[in-house]
Amino acid sequence: MPQDTLTITDNRTKQTYTVPIENGTIRAMDLRQIKTGPDDFGLMTYDPAFMNTASCRSSITFIDGERGILRYRGYPIEVLAEHCTFSEVAYLLLFGDLPTEHELKTWVGEITQHTMLHESTKKFMEGFRYNAHPMGMLVSTVAALSTIYPEAKEIHDPANRLLQIKRLIAKMPSIAAMTYRHSLGFPYVYPDNDLSYPENFMNMLWKKVEPKYVANPVIAHALDILFILHGDHEQNCSTNTMRSVGSAHTDPYLTTAAAAAALAGPLHGGANEEVLSMLDEIGSKENVPAYVKKIKEGHGKLMGFGHRVYKNYDPRAKIIKWAAERVFEVTGRNPQLDIALELERIALEDEYFVKRKLYPNVDFYSGIIYQAMGFEPEMFTVLFAIPRTAGWLAQWQEMLTDSEQKIARPRQVWTGPEVRQFVPLAKRGPVTAATR
Ligand code: ACO
Repeated sequence: MPQDTLTITDNRTKQTYTVPIENGTIRAMDLRQIKTGPDDFGLMTYDPAFMNTASCRSSITFIDGERGILRYRGYPIEVLAEHCTFSEVAYLLLFGDLPTEHELKTWVGEITQHTMLHESTKKFMEGFRYNAHPMGMLVSTVAALSTIYPEAKEIHDPANRLLQIKRLIAKMPSIAAMTYRHSLGFPYVYPDNDLSYPENFMNMLWKKVEPKYVANPVIAHALDILFILHGDHEQNCSTNTMRSVGSAHTDPYLTTAAAAAALAGPLHGGANEEVLSMLDEIGSKENVPAYVKKIKEGHGKLMGFGHRVYKNYDPRAKIIKWAAERVFEVTGRNPQLDIALELERIALEDEYFVKRKLYPNVDFYSGIIYQAMGFEPEMFTVLFAIPRTAGWLAQWQEMLTDSEQKIARPRQVWTGPEVRQFVPLAKRGPVTAATR
């Protein structure tokens, strides 16, 4: 018997099957041969929320959740955050290798060329209510780009794909800045192509009437680090959405909008906004023990804590904590930090959190640093979506070029009734399950 196999005995039929094990997985389709008779559909796996299912092969992002390791294309996140710019990291995610000096110059030049938005985008943006949530505006505007670039649907043409990838990476900060200025009622600012990716974003956010915006280098560097940390994160909820929607061969603008919609949820990228509301609700360090007690009694969750994959300290949270100290030297210390540190201290000593391996995740500290930079909590998830676009697109491209991938279409376990007798409307009783 070959060693890398699994032998299964079906106790219903007493039959034995042997299936190969590859990369620590068995193929779910290999189970289909396990049947009780010719009419049986065959065995399936039941895995709500994909707790133990690999949906793809990938060589983009590696996570070891038990040991708190995160690598992009083999490079530890700590090394990339220390030595690279986000533009280099976006290139790495998309093309598999770090760029040479020449490649980086060309890449940055090409991205810079695409930062402008079609003028109609401005009119579209003006249609939103003054208090529209920035994530709603971002998702809708990214989807609307599909109407401006109809050729984007040619997803099997590599050159066309690359053009849309460059457009999306370039235009995301421009759209994000528009959502911010819309909320404030300020006029939109055009991109400045002399500036780096984070500096140009800051220019579009914060330029007033000065002829040339000059970004604070500490803030620009911190923003770039935050972009690197958020670049990709394996098969998370929004990336899975990107792959799933993209598998229908939808164009990349609509697909990215769908991924961004998933990111908006409070259990995913929306958590950083929730962390700030939670810290506001706690109010002061002294109230932390009572708040933790409430959580342990089942009243809500500690936002910014816990992760499906990390069962150890999220390596990104460590780097953000470090970057926060640099930012506070410029902006002054955010008082929320003391509450967060106390919350972390108490939670990490508490048996409830220790037993469940609940550690701070990337969202626990990112909101505090964003707030110190001057962002309202509603903008936090938008700031997450900008760099994650590079990761989504890398994953989308990997999915499209993987010959094993098809339209994503899970199966279900049917729990409804067998075929029912139809009753005409006039003969149905006054009370039904729906009106009861
Ligand atoms: N606070 C308190 N208890 C928690 C928390 C939390 N933040 N997270 C998980 N738990 C508890 C659960 O209640 C459960 O307890 P039980 O075993 O007694 O029922 C146990 O820990 C396991 O949790 P699950 O919900 O099964 O873990 P899952 O992997 O499904 O969820 C998730 C992961 C969604 C991130 C969860 O930890 C959570 O809701 N955290 C708060 C929201 C958050 O910070 N999200 C950001 C994630 S990072 C990102 O998306 C960028």
